Amino acid sequence: MNISLAPKVAIVTGAGAGIGEAIARALAEAGATVVVSDIDAGAAERVAASIPGSLAVAADVTDEAAVQNLIARTVETFGHLDVVVPNAGIAVTSPLAATSFEDWRKVLAVNLDGVFLTIRHALPALVSSGGGAIVNISSITSLRGSALIASYAAAKAAVTNLTATVAAEMRGYGIRANAVQPGFIDTTLVTSHQGDFEAALGLEPGGFDDLIAAKQTRYGTVEEVAAAVTFLASDASSWCNGSTLVLDGGFTSSLL
Ligand SMILES: NC(=O)c1ccc[n+]([C@@H]2O[C@H](COP(=O)([O-])OP(=O)(O)OC[C@H]3O[C@@H](n4cnc5c(N)ncnc54)[C@H](O)[C@@H]3O)[C@@H](O)[C@H]2O)c1
Repeated sequence: MNISLAPKVAIVTGAGAGIGEAIARALAEAGATVVVSDIDAGAAERVAASIPGSLAVAADVTDEAAVQNLIARTVETFGHLDVVVPNAGIAVTSPLAATSFEDWRKVLAVNLDGVFLTIRHALPALVSSGGGAIVNISSITSLRGSALIASYAAAKAAVTNLTATVAAEMRGYGIRANAVQPGFIDTTLVTSHQGDFEAALGLEPGGFDDLIAAKQTRYGTVEEVAAAVTFLASDASSWCNGSTLVLDGGFTSSLL
């Protein structure tokens, strides 16, 4: 199957690193014009500089005015908006009993409010384009509880649910909303917390890698997530709406 996203215009938030960067590159390779957005202006500029025809727009997804500006700049610059990937996300690790309200709200603000704000303000532009595709980045943590990341898992479960509501409300406008649910992918979001998980789970240093290998054979790659997002952003997935695609090497499909 040859997927072409031309002449679609796509926004990817949190695209200055990790999965978002890979998604921006994959969408551009498939022919989309990409808006690379990140809270880190330098990171967004660096990624955009290596994607011909792309635009960098700095935006903190928890800042409503910044998100509105991101959508406005996109439409002013390219004339339309067709694909939205609200990818920006963070994680804070702590046992629930030791989690501060401030940390809880910080994670919910980026991982849930940020997705709401991005979709909310993109919808009028997608309607004006006559339709479009939203691809949310949920997680397998939306399917199971997980030690140390209650706020993250709760936010991702909400993103999965939000995906279904957007699909239901917007299908009459030709707007599809789907989500991917990756397992553990080799990015700083995971590697920076490896020691926390090892301490909490009583593992030796390096034991987290062994656990991941046992559960999902290896870490997933950012390119594997980007490939699935590209499919869901494209007309090749025209009959997918409100769906979720698990990308975890089989982690959650079996108890043993
Ligand atoms: N890595 C994994 O194992 C994994 C698994 C499932 C889902 N995800 C999700 O994939 C997405 C990307 O994660 P990643 O692993 O690439 O993380 P990452 O930390 O490598 O990259 C996240 C990017 O988001 C940006 N960002 C952070 N806060 C922001 C904000 N308020 N506004 C705009 N940008 C912001 C960062 O600057 C960074 O460039 C997240 O939603 C994450 O929850 C990751």
